[in-house]
Amino acid sequence: MADGQLPDFVLRDVELSARTTLALPGRATLLAEITAADQLAQLAGSGGPRRCILGDGSNVVLSGDFDGLLLHMAISGRELIGEDDQAWYVRAGAGENWHQLVTWTLEQGWPGLENLAWIPGTVGAAPIQNIGAYGLEVADRFLSLEACDMLTGKTRRLDRAACRFAYRDSVFKQQGWHLDGRLAITRVTFRLPKAWQALTGYADLAAELARQQIARPSAREIAAAVIAVRSRKLPDPAVLPNAGSFFHNPVVDAAVGERLASAYPKVPRYLQADGRVKLAAGWLIEQSGWKGRDLGRVGMYEKQALVLVNRGGARGEEVVALMKAVQADVRERFGIELFPEPVFL
Ligand code: EPU
Repeated sequence: MADGQLPDFVLRDVELSARTTLALPGRATLLAEITAADQLAQLAGSGGPRRCILGDGSNVVLSGDFDGLLLHMAISGRELIGEDDQAWYVRAGAGENWHQLVTWTLEQGWPGLENLAWIPGTVGAAPIQNIGAYGLEVADRFLSLEACDMLTGKTRRLDRAACRFAYRDSVFKQQGWHLDGRLAITRVTFRLPKAWQALTGYADLAAELARQQIARPSAREIAAAVIAVRSRKLPDPAVLPNAGSFFHNPVVDAAVGERLASAYPKVPRYLQADGRVKLAAGWLIEQSGWKGRDLGRVGMYEKQALVLVNRGGARGEEVVALMKAVQADVRERFGIELFPEPVFL
């Protein structure tokens, strides 16, 4: 793509703050509104400006201006593409809103995504960081995805194994494909098993269902309970800009978990399948004195210390300064390293 011959769906000098939920300032030199997969082939090839992929911007920290081409994935569409004795198979465009997809599947009578209700962002972003909540990850309901290889312009299909899913991780993050714009996810197919079982083991969700006196919840009741819990704990980006959990929950060796538990008997610990232990970053941050505390125009949210919020008018540098201060205090107090969850542009 040579400059001067830009297709009409490529915009110049685009303000980005309203396109990310942390609402940090920054401009993109070029931004392509991608509403159909064949537009990507027109932009493919080596050379040209630096590329990066953007969905709803709900997991993005803007460090400043972006000198390159942002591919804003806005491909729509959702359909049942098949059904057998075992499952329903649902395909959705990368630009579809995630929560609307969850709601739509539940309305159709296809349960399975209810624990992931009310998560911000797009369908195309969901597999990149393997979104998860209340005991379920998107990997658990994922069948395959289609993506455009931005070097060749050809379509690639990745199944579950090829995506190499892990906790808030996938091959896209492992290879940096979302950051260098190498593979642009265009459509995702989900497998929703007919042998549905309610997943209500997560403490907050179980407590909410008990509060509502629901002993045998339907999928739609679980979604409603998830929405109630999330709305209580997580700030609405339209009111208080944020990017959800700002750090990963650290996964540590069992011995580190034991050491912490002997010093802090109440430390939340979640045993992993491999014998390691997941700790709650929100707890570590709260114990380090950062819950509800600000640094400049950013702070750690008063109802959920894992969420970094923009109190108004903050810049990318302020986010980085707070991130480093929190990391340093948690490191000093607990000897544990916190790693950011959002993507830095
Ligand atoms: N906690 C505190 N203080 C806090 C926050 C949490 O002590 O300020 C403690 C809680 O009391 C609880 C534990 O930490 O014992 C875990 O807290 P919570 O259940 O709120 O979940 P989380 O670990 O903070 C994770 C995900 C969320 C997801 C929830 C529910 C990550 C990084 N975050 O948060 O995902 O919604 O579990 O499953 O894994 C996201 O990724 O953006 C996100 C919101």
